[in-house]
Amino acid sequence: MTDTVYVLNGPNLNLLGLREPEIYGSTTLDEIAGMLEDRARELGLAIDMRQTNHEGMLVDWLHEAQAHGARAILLNAAAYTHTSIALLDAIKAITIPVIEVHLSDPKTREDFRHLSYVGMAAAATVEGHGSDSYRMALEKVAAGEV
Ligand code: DQA
Repeated sequence: MTDTVYVLNGPNLNLLGLREPEIYGSTTLDEIAGMLEDRARELGLAIDMRQTNHEGMLVDWLHEAQAHGARAILLNAAAYTHTSIALLDAIKAITIPVIEVHLSDPKTREDFRHLSYVGMAAAATVEGHGSDSYRMALEKVAAGEV
């Protein structure tokens, strides 16, 4: 196993900072990556942070994390969280622990966000803390909670 934590981000998260800032905040994905890199270094970990708007790419990256021997995966699958049986199956197909991450708290939003296929297989969920959700998830990995 390596010290690398994959941080995988799904659709529309490339627009963080511009996109509905009243819900998602004004921090950009690049800024989150920088903050996570610093925190990972302090924790003796490394991150590999990526974003895609394509569901199958997330599936490929989950498989890649397994082949690479990643320590863990932080996954903000964005809207695919609520729709993707393919992601559920991919998480079940690998042995690397996956932490579901969300900036907002989907459980307090529209009904269609209450169902999480990712959450059905994730080892833990961190949601509702804005960009801090990512840092808190990384700290769970470092603490050996997953
Ligand atoms: C999100 C929550 C999802 O419901 C939504 O589709 C997103 C972002 C979050 O980080 O709060 O795109 O995953």
